[in-house]
Amino acid sequence: MTSPSTPHPEPLSDDDTDWNTSENPSFSEVLQAHCTRRKLLAGLGSSATLMGLFPFSTSVALAKKGSSTPSAQAPLQPHQRITALDFSAVPKGKADAVRVPEGYQAQVVFALGDPLNSRTPAYRNDGTDTDFDSRAGDHHDGMEYFGLSADGRRRDPHSSQRGLLVMNHEAVTNHFLHPAGASALPRPSAEADKEIAAHGVSVVEVIRKASGWEYVVDSLYNRRVTPLTPVELSGAARGHSLCKTRYSPTGQRTRGTLNNCGTGCTPWGTFLTGEENWAGYFTRSPNDDAARGATHPDERLSLLRYARPQGATSRYGWETAGRSDRFARWDISVTGTSPDGTDDYRHEANTMGFIVELDPFRNQAMIKKRTSLGRFAHESAAFGLLTHGQPLAVYMGDDSRGEYIYKFVSAAPWDRSDARPSDPMATGDKYLDKGTLYVARFHEDGTGTWEALSMRALGTRARDNKTGYRFADDGDVCIHARLAADAVGATKMDRPEWCAVHPDTGEVYVSLTNNSQRKLEPAGTQQGLHASSPRAYTNAGAAATQSQGNLNGHIIRLRENSHRTTATTFTWDVYLFGARSTADAASINLSALNEDQDFSGPDGVWFSQHTGLCWIQTDDRALSDASNCMMLAGVAGRVGDGESVVVRHTRTDGSAVDVPTLVGRPPSASQLKRFLVGPVQCEITGCTETPDGKTLFVNIQHPGEEITAQRATDPQQYTSHWPANAGYGPGGALGRPRSATVAIIHTNGLPIGSGRPPFEKGTPS
Ligand code: FEO
Ligand code: CA
Ligand code: CA
Ligand code: CA
Repeated sequence: MTSPSTPHPEPLSDDDTDWNTSENPSFSEVLQAHCTRRKLLAGLGSSATLMGLFPFSTSVALAKKGSSTPSAQAPLQPHQRITALDFSAVPKGKADAVRVPEGYQAQVVFALGDPLNSRTPAYRNDGTDTDFDSRAGDHHDGMEYFGLSADGRRRDPHSSQRGLLVMNHEAVTNHFLHPAGASALPRPSAEADKEIAAHGVSVVEVIRKASGWEYVVDSLYNRRVTPLTPVELSGAARGHSLCKTRYSPTGQRTRGTLNNCGTGCTPWGTFLTGEENWAGYFTRSPNDDAARGATHPDERLSLLRYARPQGATSRYGWETAGRSDRFARWDISVTGTSPDGTDDYRHEANTMGFIVELDPFRNQAMIKKRTSLGRFAHESAAFGLLTHGQPLAVYMGDDSRGEYIYKFVSAAPWDRSDARPSDPMATGDKYLDKGTLYVARFHEDGTGTWEALSMRALGTRARDNKTGYRFADDGDVCIHARLAADAVGATKMDRPEWCAVHPDTGEVYVSLTNNSQRKLEPAGTQQGLHASSPRAYTNAGAAATQSQGNLNGHIIRLRENSHRTTATTFTWDVYLFGARSTADAASINLSALNEDQDFSGPDGVWFSQHTGLCWIQTDDRALSDASNCMMLAGVAGRVGDGESVVVRHTRTDGSAVDVPTLVGRPPSASQLKRFLVGPVQCEITGCTETPDGKTLFVNIQHPGEEITAQRATDPQQYTSHWPANAGYGPGGALGRPRSATVAIIHTNGLPIGSGRPPFEKGTPS
């Protein structure tokens, strides 16, 4: 947060804000009642079972660690699917490097500042570079690969040699963008302009040559989308009175996209990007509540729910950089005199927080915000399996503490002929502008329900609900999806990050990265324990920045009733609980992770369409005493392949709290392995593959991010020098760290996730 008295914003911690003060279920009361009825089994832990309590079969015994028990997956295609991991796991570690298993190579392809055209100078990486709207942005995040034909003239979904990488640039480590770190407030306009342009999305052509993958300077497809690029609002909120601004008095447009985190790929070949922590970019004056009261009293309530109380300061202070409209928009206080907000930016934040669609092959096509998918802190957007004639489902998480999991179901049934449309954005209009938004409620018995969010579904609750907010229409419901979800009793989750759909089972996996507000006590606490978030504990390691709560996160998964996208009920369990391998097996390491599997802070979760492997990427600070962030490969089972257990916690007064939950079958040694460990202070994020499964592209976000303006001038004090220290770009061993995309290949050309080291194939070295 920006403060006039500090040198500059610490952009590290705003993605775990909690602004959900609703009384939606923490389940603590329910659990207490339930647990008085339930007999706790002796010998708690992964062996503590309550067979038959839950609606799905629990007859599959827990796999012994290291065994090769076959998975309970649906039939796989043996020529593609990997059912056992035989690469050598990468040990945890803190080296300032990207480490992958023996037999694999990780090569830097596209890093912060790399020029997209030959008119832009090579990146000096000393803080003097400009023109970030013609260079790779910062904080590479979610990413998708779109195959390009050999002649480069058209989309080719089967091409593994040439394609477009489309990636998010979530935020900036701004001290490294300027010669002597970022200035204090008021921000110089030149600094603000650089930082704004380093946000957004890159489209960049990549090609595989004999020497490896390269990006193509001057490709006609290369493109930067920034927070200044014109964008249309589409769907339920288009033209809404709550979206009218000085820039767009009709409420049909806005500028750019902001804090882009997770991504998605539509069945018709376009790119989706989720706007996550956009709220923190806007400031509000300390007296704005009174000004709002005169025009729309409920706005005070909705601004609070979306983390913008009056007096809120902005992340980078761009509103202080001058009187220009491009800076004024970051102040969402009422400053004009109009009754409808067309003379100021009081509604500007209502134009952010959406899933945004972009056609990577047509750089003149208008970008559209698909507002019907709801406004919140979006991560990825994952499509359910496609069935011709059935509506599409899109699964999405809202990443803040205690926020919810959503799905959007299209009104239009899927028509397989739309997979190769002549007008992809019009196809987006067809499927993503009309439909129903739902939010998830998780029940203690392993079932769940999807609650519709619309004026019709809300009924009298639209004007009379526990939030106090009065919805005007369906556009209002989408703009304030969090409040509508509060009104229908959605279940508070532990920061939902990416959603991913298993390509064989269709089950939906959602990473819940951590939650420092998940509390064991006092009883009745707002984010108490419940079956879908059953852990709260104290960090055992030296990394004490998040010392209590669900520190290591978990990955929940759900199966739609009858496997239908339109289902309003589902069953669920927890695929994996993050934990230290040495943590207590009865209350923390519930998935019995070993040294080659332990992880913390799952964020990216993504399935290979080729191998069927589940890739898990971490954004973590709770295990950081032992390791930098990492990526693991998993052979996922299915909902119900494990057991119901009761997790026993002990309060400070010595009394016990028993929380039932559903633990997926703990992975054997060959079903989950650490595949990659990144450089110092990075997050591993972004995951996409070539169609042959032989190249995996991964993003290394903000290595060395813990930097101050004072230290920015002394390379000896940088905590990371990657990728310069790996020979990429200028600077060598003392270079400024850069976010970057890496391409991972196996030296024998095997699909990623398979293969023993070459020497184990009968060619001893
Ligand atoms: Fe940008 Fe929730 O991670
Ligand atoms: Ca994320
Ligand atoms: Ca994260
Ligand atoms: Ca990050």
